[in-house]
Amino acid sequence: MRKIVAMPGDGIGKVVLKEAIRLLDAAGFKAEYVHGDIGWDFWCSEGNALPQRTIDLLEKHKIGLFGAITSKPKDDAVKELAPELQDKGLVYFSPIVGLRQHFNLDICIRPCKSFTGNPLNFIRKDGKGGYEEPEVNAVIFRQNTEGMYGGIEWTNPPKVVRDALETHPKMKSFKDVPSEEMAISTRIVTKKATERIIRSAFEYAKTFGYKNVTICEKPNVLRETSGMFLKLGRQIAKEYPGIQLWDTNIDAQMMWLTKNPEDYGCVVAENMFGDIISDGFAGLIGGLGFACSANIGKEVAVFEPTHGSAPKYEKLDPSIVNPIAMFMSACMMLDHIGEKEISGKINKAIAKVIEEGKYKTYDMMKLRGGPDVFAKGACTTQQMTDAVIEKL
Ligand code: NAI
Ligand code: MG
Repeated sequence: MRKIVAMPGDGIGKVVLKEAIRLLDAAGFKAEYVHGDIGWDFWCSEGNALPQRTIDLLEKHKIGLFGAITSKPKDDAVKELAPELQDKGLVYFSPIVGLRQHFNLDICIRPCKSFTGNPLNFIRKDGKGGYEEPEVNAVIFRQNTEGMYGGIEWTNPPKVVRDALETHPKMKSFKDVPSEEMAISTRIVTKKATERIIRSAFEYAKTFGYKNVTICEKPNVLRETSGMFLKLGRQIAKEYPGIQLWDTNIDAQMMWLTKNPEDYGCVVAENMFGDIISDGFAGLIGGLGFACSANIGKEVAVFEPTHGSAPKYEKLDPSIVNPIAMFMSACMMLDHIGEKEISGKINKAIAKVIEEGKYKTYDMMKLRGGPDVFAKGACTTQQMTDAVIEKL
């Protein structure tokens, strides 16, 4: 039987992953879930939020379903370590970022698709006294391992770094700034990784019938890195004659989100721009409760909702949080491993529950989260799962 590494992590990650597995079982997906330790508890007890045994499990089984983890600022993290681990100079590192880097999960896919009847869908005035609700169906391809989040940065850069930078004519404007007063983050973009993310967007567009691929960068200012994106985009586009290549600047794209979001199909960007643009699109289709994602490498792939562990709500029982982002992440996993029929069935069931509108989690009712949301008509996380299972 197929084995899936289930990594619930922290807080509501534990809640939504459990519900997703319940749904997958009900939908007839036959798999064995192997538990993978990850998250805050393991940082506190072992000094490592991503134990080697979890890496080994993923190495072996290749496919992971991940809930969410909790991260805390450096000093707070050290304070929560087991007494015997304190003063060992351990440094907390986000285990999901660790997974992406360890397995080179360089392709991040974040679909943002509006469900008919979702009360959180974006609406805009139609200019005739009414409003219109554009159907958003965009899929963001975010380069997941390099660019602005590559982690190559300094405060008070070492002399060799400073000296190397001084060879650039534009450094003249910083010549009087002491290194101690300088912070530098790099944005390294490489040809192979850029080609991979652009090509995966085109392949996805071809497979799922999207009519355009947009390179969303800023080549007029970031001439080298965004420039490479655009240049490679133009080359690769030639291999896909049926799909249009568009290019937009990240800043203008944020404005067009509210003007014409329905026009965009697949959108490709570097790590940070992809992070920004995917949150932007997610806001149009219901926010964190609906935002799913895949992290795909050459061998290993990990599927996760984009939300975090929502510590405010982790202790609420029954749980109030929306499991749909996790469900849709599980559907992306099914698509990835070729179980398109089951994922189609689950997606349709989710769509029916939303359209019917009988079951809504607190976020879908625009309520403030808390134990009182049920009295106001919100359903529990488990009731939402039951409702979807009922529609399968
Ligand atoms: P968050 O995503 O946990 O929560 C942000 C807001 O959205 C909160 O009001 C939360 O209650 C709500 N929310 C989140 N998921 C929801 C759901 N499924 N249904 C309904 N409402 C939902 O982000 P926040 O508060 O910034 O971070 C909390 C912790 O999560 C931090 O420790 C952070 O480092 C971590 N985090 C982990 C991520 C991951 O595991 N990939 C991603 C983002 C944050
Ligand atoms: Mg983000």
